[in-house]
Amino acid sequence: MKKKIVAGNWKMNKTFNHAKELAQQLVNSSYDTEVNMILFPPALYVSELVDITSESSIGIGLQNVSEHEKGAFTGEISAEMIASVGAQYCIVGHSERREYFGEQNQVLSKKINQLLLNKITPIYCCGEILVEREKGNHFNLVKSQIKEGLFHLSSEEILSCIVAYEPVWAIGTGVTATSDQAQEMHSFIRGVIAEKYGLEVASKISILYGGSCNPENAKELFACNDVDGGLIGGASLVAEKFISIANSF
Ligand code: 13P
Repeated sequence: MKKKIVAGNWKMNKTFNHAKELAQQLVNSSYDTEVNMILFPPALYVSELVDITSESSIGIGLQNVSEHEKGAFTGEISAEMIASVGAQYCIVGHSERREYFGEQNQVLSKKINQLLLNKITPIYCCGEILVEREKGNHFNLVKSQIKEGLFHLSSEEILSCIVAYEPVWAIGTGVTATSDQAQEMHSFIRGVIAEKYGLEVASKISILYGGSCNPENAKELFACNDVDGGLIGGASLVAEKFISIANSF
């Protein structure tokens, strides 16, 4: 079954105290019980947030992981470490990692392998920059991100993954993809997965939308057939906004 998911990518925001306060507000809040809420705080706070949320159904994840198993990789965090503090999810291939840290599909596929080996659920991000959309190349580009990042996996393995479509031109810009644009791309992504793994597998994979998703537009986006929730940046930093988005299904 596809899950309904609202995931908050806090990026490089919040001090420790503010992060704990926000997590506590979310733990105390009430939202649609069918919704899986996942928080992606800065790595430094993950262990503490796992504790704060332990009695709730909120999941905690990392924003990035090393493609290596262990060893002399100063500053990196391994999938085994993530599992060892009780976090269950990890974002892979966010457009900011692709753009500012040069991460490419091949490396991202290795990160996914490390996560799956350690039973962590990857949220694999794909999405085009504006120029690619204007050239009409957005479908090809997203298809190659999906193929090169995920298609080495078995059916069972890909079923342990979540996909997030984040049109880069909509991230942090206040410009949102229209629900038609989101549905069109989500349905395309599901089709690409179905070509390789079959319809049954494709129909079980959650595909999240990310890019200026907020309490005003979430309802319309989440009403689309192939939009199974959101990966939310800015609006996930304010408890009321994030809860309102969680109640938008
Ligand atoms: P915004 O919601 O701030 O546009 O960010 C989206 C995003 O990048 C989530 O990963």
